[in-house]
Amino acid sequence: MTQTFSDSVESPASQPGSLDVRQAGINPNHWYVAARSDEVTTTPRGVTIWGEAIALYRDSHGQVQALADRCPHRFVKLSEGQVVGDELECAYHGWRIAGDGHCAAVPYLAKDQRLPSCRVRLYPVREQDGFIWVFPGEAALAEQISPLSIPEWEHLNYIATVSIIDCQAHYSYLIENLMDMYHGHLHADYQAWTEAKLQALEETSDRVDVHYEAQSYYRIDKIWSISQLFFPSLRRLHPEPLDVSYVYPNWVSTLGQDFKIYCLFCPIGPTHTRAYLIHFTSLQAFWRLHKLPIAFRRFLKQRLFGAAQSLLDGLVRQDVVMIEQEQQAYLANPQARPHELNRALVSVQRLIREQHQRSLTMP
Ligand code: FES
Ligand SMILES: [Fe+2]
Repeated sequence: MTQTFSDSVESPASQPGSLDVRQAGINPNHWYVAARSDEVTTTPRGVTIWGEAIALYRDSHGQVQALADRCPHRFVKLSEGQVVGDELECAYHGWRIAGDGHCAAVPYLAKDQRLPSCRVRLYPVREQDGFIWVFPGEAALAEQISPLSIPEWEHLNYIATVSIIDCQAHYSYLIENLMDMYHGHLHADYQAWTEAKLQALEETSDRVDVHYEAQSYYRIDKIWSISQLFFPSLRRLHPEPLDVSYVYPNWVSTLGQDFKIYCLFCPIGPTHTRAYLIHFTSLQAFWRLHKLPIAFRRFLKQRLFGAAQSLLDGLVRQDVVMIEQEQQAYLANPQARPHELNRALVSVQRLIREQHQRSLTMP
């Protein structure tokens, strides 16, 4: 359904009688980013997705495994242990858990004792586009759904910068922040974008796409224009389309031809959200560059990794302050209804409620 309208129409941000969006759970039947690929090694790493503690590690083949982070013996965290071959050894008494979740060894097992038949829950896990994705829902559904594709991660024409968002707030505040481009006001000192105007909105049961027209400070059409990321005096305002999408549970955005940005959500709990914000600067305009040897282009991509780091981290810091204040204000007075003017947020909240509802009715 596509709607085109002026954005001066007021609409309520929440619907009376429906689920309070700040209390909504996640739909676990999606792939969630749990870590960056290089964060998962043969040293176990504990992560949490909506209250579920998960231990990630690489086995001797480099394959990533995801197990419930709970030793079957006395329920301590398996991620405190170590990887031995393909097994995860608990730090406490040294029980070993195999990649299939069964207990493979107990160091003090007596001759007349049998290995406990306990089984640790395994989560479907994939390594794709530089990230580790975990499916916390019904394992049988994992094959029917794909993790969000991020082709720019490997593509030689894109320079990546990654910033971690860690905020003490419900995930709805973060996605609303990302879908409401009128908050360029907050970032005026970083000169990200300005004068956004919502032009069109399209929504389905899985996503919300919002098209804004905005003014961008950047134009990456000469190789030196990358330095606009560092020197504000080189920037010139000009109109660009600004498209943002809530592709549940993640966010995708493009600003003109030059920037593509993703936010990969890892909701930890009702008032704690982690996410990876990935900013790609496009080198598509430089056709001469594309004729250079692949090895050199790969070297350039790696050398320029993080080129937008201070800009991106600065934007994140400003956003997190606002998002956490919203959460605190909600906790102090959950009945207060904000005065929302951006219809995109009505659609975002509708999608959150629908996904929450869907998770309750799943088999
Ligand atoms: S608690 Fe893990 S081996 Fe005892
Ligand atoms: Fe922002």
